[in-house]
Amino acid sequence: MIHRYRKSHEKIAMGLLAYMPQERNVKQLKKTMALYNERPNWQLFFWKADNYYVGIIGIHVEDDEFFTVQHISVLPSFRGEGIGHEMIVSVGRVMGNRQAKPSKETKNFMTKCSA
Ligand SMILES: CC(C)(COP(=O)(O)OP(=O)(O)OC[C@H]1O[C@@H](n2cnc3c(N)ncnc32)[C@H](O)[C@@H]1OP(=O)(O)O)[C@@H](O)C(=O)NCCC(=O)NCCS
Repeated sequence: MIHRYRKSHEKIAMGLLAYMPQERNVKQLKKTMALYNERPNWQLFFWKADNYYVGIIGIHVEDDEFFTVQHISVLPSFRGEGIGHEMIVSVGRVMGNRQAKPSKETKNFMTKCSA
């Protein structure tokens, strides 16, 4: 189930985002967190399973028509269970009529999901 990020869960969010190759550098990761903390059009959502936060998806709302999936990651021990795909579907529901677009970093997985 998808849950909107709150700043009180920042450390958990950073731990999950760090699985994305471009966020392995801590300075970069902190810059990314600042975007999600400070800009209303940058939005983060957790996936909760077995009472743990096991996945995260981060989007940039471009305009009334599009949003870009900037980040997506799942704890290694929960991968291959469909959580990544479910997060894309669920965030699409939250976004209503807006269409999802991939970023350079999420393209491979999003292409796989739409295949
Ligand atoms: C990408 C990620 C979020 C997928 O999460 P998940 O919950 O395992 O995804 P699902 O269970 O819905 O889908 C698994 C399928 O996606 C495939 N997949 C995983 N990562 C992929 C990638 N980077 N590109 C294309 N396909 C990928 C798996 O091989 C699997 O394929 P199969 O169903 O044919 O066996 C997860 O692997 C992850 O956290 N990766 C590290 C972070 C990352 O690199 N994110 C950006 C990916 S572009």
